[in-house]
Amino acid sequence: MAVNAVKAHLITLKAHKNRLARTSMREMFAEDAKRFKRFSIAWDRLLFDYSKHRLDERSLAALLDVAKTAGVKARRDAMFSGKIINATEGRAVLHTALRAPSGELIEFDGRNVMADIAAVRRAMTRFANAVRSGRYKVGGGAITDVVNIGIGGSSLGPAMAARALAPWHNGPKTHFVSNVDAADLAEVFKVIRPETTLFIIASKTFTTQETMRNAATARAWLRRKLKRKDVGAHFAALSTSLDKTRKFGIADERTFGFWDWVGGRYSVWSAIGLSVMIAIGPKRFGEFLDGAHEADTHFRTADYGANIPVVMALLGVWYRNVWGFETHAVLPYDNRLARFPAYLQQLEMESNGKRVMMDGRAVSTDTGAILWGEPGTDGQHAFYQLIHQGTSVIPCDFLIAAKSNDRLSGHHELLVANCLAQSEALMTGRTLGEAKAELAAAGLSAAEVKRLAPHKVFEGNRPSTTFLYERLDPKMLGTLIALYEHKVFVQGVLWGINSFDQWGVELGKVLANDLIPMVRGKKPAGRKDASTAGLLAAYHRKKR
Ligand code: F6P
Repeated sequence: MAVNAVKAHLITLKAHKNRLARTSMREMFAEDAKRFKRFSIAWDRLLFDYSKHRLDERSLAALLDVAKTAGVKARRDAMFSGKIINATEGRAVLHTALRAPSGELIEFDGRNVMADIAAVRRAMTRFANAVRSGRYKVGGGAITDVVNIGIGGSSLGPAMAARALAPWHNGPKTHFVSNVDAADLAEVFKVIRPETTLFIIASKTFTTQETMRNAATARAWLRRKLKRKDVGAHFAALSTSLDKTRKFGIADERTFGFWDWVGGRYSVWSAIGLSVMIAIGPKRFGEFLDGAHEADTHFRTADYGANIPVVMALLGVWYRNVWGFETHAVLPYDNRLARFPAYLQQLEMESNGKRVMMDGRAVSTDTGAILWGEPGTDGQHAFYQLIHQGTSVIPCDFLIAAKSNDRLSGHHELLVANCLAQSEALMTGRTLGEAKAELAAAGLSAAEVKRLAPHKVFEGNRPSTTFLYERLDPKMLGTLIALYEHKVFVQGVLWGINSFDQWGVELGKVLANDLIPMVRGKKPAGRKDASTAGLLAAYHRKKR
């Protein structure tokens, strides 16, 4: 029977919350000179500072107890060793094998999966090198542009990583098309030349409607622009479904496979990363994998109290289930991580947006938080007002590099100062007394001070974590992603849910297919609800 370990500890955790509700982080910092040291983990090239949380040693110990009693270790070992932990789909969960050293023995179904992984990696490397060097030639010569067509996990990972690792790009230009909205592909058509473009069709199932539509449109576009016999060389495929890639007309030697034990949102480490490998080269792609493997080793070996993903998971549970905070912001002070929040949205919300436990019973606590975010400093001039003074408390993750990848002087210090200032402001706030004193010092009359002071108060005591890393390079990016992956994993175990299926996306797909003939005007709305039928009728009227 599935167990929600958080639920089992809720009374204890709530008692800690009630105790802590009477004090503020500001006071806790004032009382404890060692607080920063006590509540931060200095690991490898990364400092994980979680001292600005509504947490003391007793509440942290209570949270660690949840992890200890939830069976995290057993389930973690089961995942790493290839047990079928995705029970609702009958699958193992082995994305960690994709970044393990090739000498390791990891078995699934009586096969050493490492040999299969190495074979695909070799094929990807050969192809990436040939494309990058210009040895792979199409009608127009060497490839100048690579367009990855995929959606969800078959796009978000490579698109996010390609943007994050732009300083390492020394291959053809990469583009990412995911949306079935023609605008996505149309904009890319404007900037590529058919003669020198490679389309990579990335789809685990090779049935996803949006991807298949975009792929067919790309093929039709090439057929119009090139000689028909030349078109095939402009396609490669990333998929687990060889019969379907063949049917589409993509040659086996340009089809790079993976396995059903790689979940879509965990697939950037697999063949799905080909566009990134072509952009930055196989060596740097290897460093990306190494960074993730380091996080795997940390997750497997560090004590829970010094284990970054375990602590991340516990903080998430603490705020979601005990304090009742519904959302979580990820705020990279790293412009190239602009797509990181979107990537994490799929990772966290598709994984842990669940309402039943492994055994099908309703989960008796809230589960996955609503994750959102944008890069700082832009966010500061948009939505931070609500984070500072709104009525919702939003725990934040700040991410910042010590070293910039860019040489433009005078920028990075400002970025760092802004990042640190935000977490400081969220934590310390500004009291009514302080606000009044500041206004008085600025020369305002007593009446004006009284009128304005309440607006200038910052409640403070708002929680945040800061990830301070040396530099955003391929290895660091791999590490960061894997830390969040394991956070999601631990939370799934704590709630007793399956983090590896995504049945919640099915109904919309079924209904979209049902609606297509009605939208095309080939079938009446029939027994659709009045709103859907009304919208369809209005659509047909308006498009005339
Ligand atoms: O609709 C959700 C989903 O199944 C994701 O989990 C997945 O990453 C995405 O669709 C794309 O799927 P595929 O790689 O099979 O095209």
